Amino acid sequence: MEVILYFSNAGEAFAGGKQVQLTVGNTAKIAQQIHQKTQALLLEIQTVVPYPQAYQATLQRARQEKEDQTCPAILPLTLPQDVTRLYLGFPNWYRSLPLAVVGCLKALSLAEVEIVPFCTHEGSGFGTALTELASLLPDNPILKEFSCYGSKVDDATTQAELLTWLKTL
Ligand SMILES: Cc1cc2nc3c(=O)[nH]c(=O)nc-3n(C[C@H](O)[C@H](O)[C@H](O)COP(=O)(O)O)c2cc1C
Repeated sequence: MEVILYFSNAGEAFAGGKQVQLTVGNTAKIAQQIHQKTQALLLEIQTVVPYPQAYQATLQRARQEKEDQTCPAILPLTLPQDVTRLYLGFPNWYRSLPLAVVGCLKALSLAEVEIVPFCTHEGSGFGTALTELASLLPDNPILKEFSCYGSKVDDATTQAELLTWLKTL
C-alpha cells in the first residue's frame, strides 16, 4: 500500500518576504493534495515537544539541532506492514532535511520501500536533502521528486505541476 509521511510546521512563517500565520503548514497542504489524488494513507511526523509558534524561536531551535545533529523525539508512528511506496514530505530547513525527519527515517524499517520525496521551500529547493536521503536510505529506490515554494502551494500552477509529477511516477 501507499503511505504519505510528512513533517510540516504551522505557525509563523515567511512567505515571499512577508511574515504570515499558517494554520496548516505548507508541506501539510501538499501532502493533503497528494492524498486527494492517490488516496494514500496520510501520516504526520510530530515532535514530542512542538516547535515554537514564533518564527525566530523555531529558527533558533532548528539551527541548534542541525549544529548538534540531534534528532528531536517524535511521537510514536506505526507504518502498515505492507507499505510499498512512501511519499516523504518535509520543508527545507537550512538547506537540508529537518532533524525530525532524519530521526524518523532512522527509526523506521523501510526495506524495499520506494521513496518519493517532496519538499516545500522559499528558494533553496531541496538543498542537500536528496543527497542526505540517498545516504540515509542507500538501498531504497528513490523516485522522481517534487518541490515548490511554500508560499505558492495554493497556486493553480503548483497544483498543475503536482498533478503532472504524480502522473510521471
Ligand atoms: C527553521 C527553518 C529553516 C528554513 N530554512 C530554509 C532554507 O534554508 N531555504 C529555504 O528555501 N527555505 C527555508 N525555510 C522556509 C521553509 O522551507 C518554507 O517556509 C516551507 O514551505 C515551510 O514548510 P512547512 O509550512 O510545511 O513547515 C526555512 C524555514 C524554517 C522554519
